[in-house]
Amino acid sequence: MASLGVNIDHIANVRQARRTVEPDPVPMALLAELGGADGITVHLREDRRHIQDRDVELLRQTVRSRLNLEMAATPEMEAIAMRIKPDMVTLVPERREEVTTEGGLNVAEQVQSLTDMVHRLQADGIPVSLFVDPDIQQLQACQATGARWVELHTGTYAEASWEQQPAELARLTEATAQARALGLRVNAGHGLTYQNVEPVAAIEGMEELNIGHTIVARALAVGLQSAVSEMRRLVENPRRDPLFGRLN
Ligand code: PXP
Repeated sequence: MASLGVNIDHIANVRQARRTVEPDPVPMALLAELGGADGITVHLREDRRHIQDRDVELLRQTVRSRLNLEMAATPEMEAIAMRIKPDMVTLVPERREEVTTEGGLNVAEQVQSLTDMVHRLQADGIPVSLFVDPDIQQLQACQATGARWVELHTGTYAEASWEQQPAELARLTEATAQARALGLRVNAGHGLTYQNVEPVAAIEGMEELNIGHTIVARALAVGLQSAVSEMRRLVENPRRDPLFGRLN
């Protein structure tokens, strides 16, 4: 059975839209754990557009499941990972202009530099996963770096038409088997939704799915009504407590 890593970046996105303190992804991670998350994933981006350094530091202290830090393979991020010591680092490609991670890491193109980084992180006790497309050449390159894990990019599967989806699922299934034959452990994620997750969760050998956007979207759908009701009560019937000076 695959486990569930919940990516909470989009909670931070809402906070950063106002540069304020709410919603705070740190206590939300606890709620995700109460809901059954086996791990919490955050992507600390170079431009800090959602998750902030402070979030990662506090999550390291509060997450009781597993903290997976997604990051670009840069010296700045490596230093942060070495200091914070997440339970896993997932190396992802990153471009400033992209809305979200657009494709897998081209490991085959940068085996030597990634090998060095993977070794330094793993020597420090941090397991490393490489986010790659479900492609045998990339998987072989991942093995060559010494990384023990891969995360298969499910974006192409998620975006495929109904006719194309079975072929994309077959690619993911085959890549999972190939990765395991190479001695790699397998996670997957990106673009998974309540509608398309089950066939991926059922792939033999799949260990963990990292899912973010659809869960945060669903949280709004199931939570908005009670949030409005609470505000409605305050607006209709405000307290006139003297301690609440500004309301008098
Ligand atoms: N895995 C990786 C490597 C990602 O970059 C992302 C998006 O940040 C996810 C999983 C989660 O994707 P989604 O938000 O589409 O569920």
